[in-house]
Amino acid sequence: MLSCHKTYPKTSHLGHNIVYAFPELKSGKAFLLKAILMLEIKALKVFHGQIEAVHGIDIAVSQGQCVTLLGPNGAGKTSTLSAITGTVRATGTIQLDREPIGALAVEERCKRGVAISPEGRRVFANLSVYDNLLMGGALCPSRAQLDKEIEDWFVQFPVLGERRNQLAGTLSGGEQQMLAITRALLSHPRILLLDEPSLGLAPQISAKIFDIIRNLKSLGTTILLVEQNAAAAVRVSDYVYVLNNGMISSQGKADQFGDGNDLMNELTGVHT
Ligand SMILES: Nc1ncnc2c1ncn2[C@@H]1O[C@H](COP(=O)(O)OP(=O)(O)OP(=O)(O)O)[C@@H](O)[C@H]1O
Ligand SMILES: [Mg+2]
Repeated sequence: MLSCHKTYPKTSHLGHNIVYAFPELKSGKAFLLKAILMLEIKALKVFHGQIEAVHGIDIAVSQGQCVTLLGPNGAGKTSTLSAITGTVRATGTIQLDREPIGALAVEERCKRGVAISPEGRRVFANLSVYDNLLMGGALCPSRAQLDKEIEDWFVQFPVLGERRNQLAGTLSGGEQQMLAITRALLSHPRILLLDEPSLGLAPQISAKIFDIIRNLKSLGTTILLVEQNAAAAVRVSDYVYVLNNGMISSQGKADQFGDGNDLMNELTGVHT
């Protein structure tokens, strides 16, 4: 187990916002266990100047889940993530660990446990892989601990370790994506936001990124994933929201969407 994940309790899959019943062993009575809500968004509207890009949406992510926000170009996916990180004007409520964070500054949200791997990867191109990772661990209490955590991640992603002194801008697209995700993880997020991590990657590399997401989930990381690749996203997700023109047009447990191909056709406008 990676030391960076010591603060992440590994949870069993508890479903999405659902109260599950388990048989009580001795008496045969059922007792109820409620999924632990990590992120709860209600009536979220997001604005870019005078333009309202997101029109009042509700999203919930429980601890240990991977929840996906799917949608075509311009649907409002990045706007939604920006509202969570605090980089855009928004109304409605955003709660992390049942505490409102919607009025907090970006840095304070980061301290509370919001981390993002942004759209287009956006690594610091002129810094080395290692220096990029040091920036991600800025909240770490000691340099020695941070160095140790980075080494732990290099075990997980050897290609980054091999390229630790290479300028990030010279990495391949897949390697940059890996770097952006690892940088976000070094802040020990309560919730990891991933904005289109497979965008622009060759199918084989994209499959590797989804393997990483699956692996992070198995380590207990809670993830809100933004994607256009419905088929791959459905396979790693517990729950799916579909965003169209700033509104949720459908949602459900991931297995309700089958192999995701119908969703994929819907998003790309292909009608079979
Ligand atoms: N900085 C901005 N200024 C003005 N309008 C913006 C800005 N950013 C986004 N928008 C608009 O808000 C809407 C939603 O954009 P957003 O980037 O959230 O979509 P998206 O679902 O992430 O799309 P994509 O899949 O292309 O990344 C779009 O109509 C877009 O033009
Ligand atoms: Mg986007």
